[in-house]
Amino acid sequence: MEIAPATDGVRSAHDGASLSRRARRLYGGARGSAVALQKLRPFICPFERLIEHIPRGSAVLDVGCGAGLFLGLLAADHGIVRGAGFDSSPRAIALANRMRPNVPREVSLEFVVADAIESWPAAECFDVVSLIDVMHHIPRTLQSRVLSYAMDRVRPGGLLLYKDMALRPRWRGRG
Ligand SMILES: C[S@@+](CC[C@H](N)C(=O)[O-])C[C@H]1O[C@@H](n2cnc3c(N)ncnc32)[C@H](O)[C@@H]1O
Repeated sequence: MEIAPATDGVRSAHDGASLSRRARRLYGGARGSAVALQKLRPFICPFERLIEHIPRGSAVLDVGCGAGLFLGLLAADHGIVRGAGFDSSPRAIALANRMRPNVPREVSLEFVVADAIESWPAAECFDVVSLIDVMHHIPRTLQSRVLSYAMDRVRPGGLLLYKDMALRPRWRGRG
């Protein structure tokens, strides 16, 4: 497993504003604060920098995927072939499943409710396993367990993509 940045990823031509516009299209039709948050997320989380690490043609497992925004962005513009996401929030997964029909049909996306501490869905390996802004939700004593589960799901030669919040600036830590 490789933890260093991948070299054959896609250089993103995007920034927060363009990814927010993409989020608007992905979640078009749905309303409410959770949808508004998806449009705001690209200004809080630098998805454009994370996307650069994902090789085209990847199968990606996104742990704590929320409403599926990262996989939606990858599926819409960044050439993944498959995305699987899980989250402990049934409401987030319901929104992810509403977004799913808005990605290109050739990309397989699946979202399920599951807890990263307890039972992970399907024991298979992925080219990329991502944990984005999730680990701070996991109790400290269980974080190494979750990281170990994530590493077990990375195929040999694959990539573990880990990102979490910084304490500063404080406003970024709220999204
Ligand atoms: C800040 S959000 C990030 C969502 C998504 N990764 C993103 O970047 O947009 C944190 C997510 O972690 C999820 N989460 C927290 N604890 C979890 C757990 N034990 N298992 C699975 N998901 C969890 C929450 O439900 C929430 O959707």
